[in-house]
Amino acid sequence: MMKALFAGTFDPPTFGHIDLIQRASKICDHLIVAIGVNMAKKEQSFFDKEEILILLKEFTSKIQNVEVCTFSGLLVDFAKKKQAQFLIRSMRSTADLEYEMQMARANHQLSGLETIFLMANAHFEYISSSLIRELGFYRANLAKFVPPAVEKHIYEKLNQHSR
Ligand code: COA
Repeated sequence: MMKALFAGTFDPPTFGHIDLIQRASKICDHLIVAIGVNMAKKEQSFFDKEEILILLKEFTSKIQNVEVCTFSGLLVDFAKKKQAQFLIRSMRSTADLEYEMQMARANHQLSGLETIFLMANAHFEYISSSLIRELGFYRANLAKFVPPAVEKHIYEKLNQHSR
């Protein structure tokens, strides 16, 4: 049974992430979507991991072979614990290449785990979680970028903070 692990911060999850999960679920028997912390983005984090877990579980509930969970610590340790045979990541354009290569190589050096890359769907390649956070801050309409449940959650959260 081929088990793959797709990790990210998903803060917030976008249509780009959901598209990737759907496509990745077709190239393995079991896909683990793991919500982690990127130390470089910790300060700007918007949702906590538990909030993202609830949202991603809802969006993937109809995909039989997808499991969503949170993790802490090193990704490769978690991948081993879950017995994943490979990692999945996405690239939107060559701009992602250097960062992704560094992570893939480091993860390979640490554990021998290979990373398989899927190209982001062209419709979503300009979307990033930080773009959504910025648009949210300016109260833009997010309907083209994230599911309604994410947009609702973003605005509930921002409204709480501005009270
Ligand atoms: N559609 C939409 N957006 C996409 C995308 C797609 N198909 N593919 C990538 N992105 C965007 C994300 O929205 C995100 O945007 P942002 O930078 O504005 O937040 C960015 O590309 C990549 O983020 P994400 O996929 O969420 O991953 P990440 O790089 O923030 O997370 C971890 C990386 C959590 C997997 C990594 O930090 C990790 O493994 N941490 C654990 C500790 C560890 O092992 N560290 C060593 C790693 S070598």
